[in-house]
Amino acid sequence: MQLGLADRNVLVTGATGGIGQVVARVFAAEGARVAVTYRNDAEAAEKLAAELGAADDRALAVRYALDEPASVEAAVATVTERWGGVDVLVANAIRWGVRRSPDTRFEQVDPDVWQPVISDNLAPTIRTVQLVVPGMRERGWGRVVLVSSHIAVDGGKGQEFYGATKAGLHGFARSLAWDAGPDGVLVNVVAPGLTLTRRALTGLPEAVRERETKLTPTGRLSAPEDVANTIVYLCSDANGNVTGETVSVAGGR
Ligand SMILES: NC(=O)c1ccc[n+]([C@@H]2O[C@H](COP(=O)([O-])OP(=O)(O)OC[C@H]3O[C@@H](n4cnc5c(N)ncnc54)[C@H](OP(=O)(O)O)[C@@H]3O)[C@@H](O)[C@H]2O)c1
Repeated sequence: MQLGLADRNVLVTGATGGIGQVVARVFAAEGARVAVTYRNDAEAAEKLAAELGAADDRALAVRYALDEPASVEAAVATVTERWGGVDVLVANAIRWGVRRSPDTRFEQVDPDVWQPVISDNLAPTIRTVQLVVPGMRERGWGRVVLVSSHIAVDGGKGQEFYGATKAGLHGFARSLAWDAGPDGVLVNVVAPGLTLTRRALTGLPEAVRERETKLTPTGRLSAPEDVANTIVYLCSDANGNVTGETVSVAGGR
């Protein structure tokens, strides 16, 4: 199978995170140039870019903050000026919300707490896609993957706002597939289940991982590589005509 990713320009947002860094590595292993974004952890992004070949202009670390619109515009402009355009966008960055305590009801969550979960994730992600699609159309080839979550389709206790912002991506992709498809631009959503990143391994109680594993037909949670390989396939030449889809990477959950 030919992925055809050699010398493609890839932008991976949230690439200092558990899933994003693996996505970036898999693209680089396929010969793509990879721009990796960070919000806070410049050091981790620079280190990753160095590993992926920044010294030979094969990688680039760029600041990108969903909650700072100017940084979104600047990040895309930086990559475009450096490499001539973005062929592949993986919109993976997430501004997490505050986890609410189990004895708090949905309606008790203050709008100041939940509204940014929607406004800082959904609209800036759509804006990022708006910035990269014109160049993809011009070149007659482009791939976009929006990283969602199984929560958007399955739901989860206490996950109303995160679920809402992720589900918005699904509706967006379905319609953009119509608008961009005739120009060779394919847009898909990848929805991981609980994925064994460092955050999931250290920040979640063992009982949560056990419960999720029991709910998973394959009997195991996804590794970041499972998610990354799916994303890279959807963003490759090997994906000729899959668009507007939501692909779950959750072991059949
Ligand atoms: N891990 C899971 O179990 C799981 C399950 C389902 C879906 N997902 C989805 O998969 C994606 C990646 O998740 P992850 O677990 O890899 O996350 P993560 O390890 O927490 O990494 C989050 C990434 O997003 C960046 N980020 C944080 N706040 C940001 C902001 N306001 N603007 C721009 N970037 C920001 C972080 O940058 P800094 O490091 O610089 O702060 C980091 O690169 C997310 O979209 C998430 O919803 C994850």
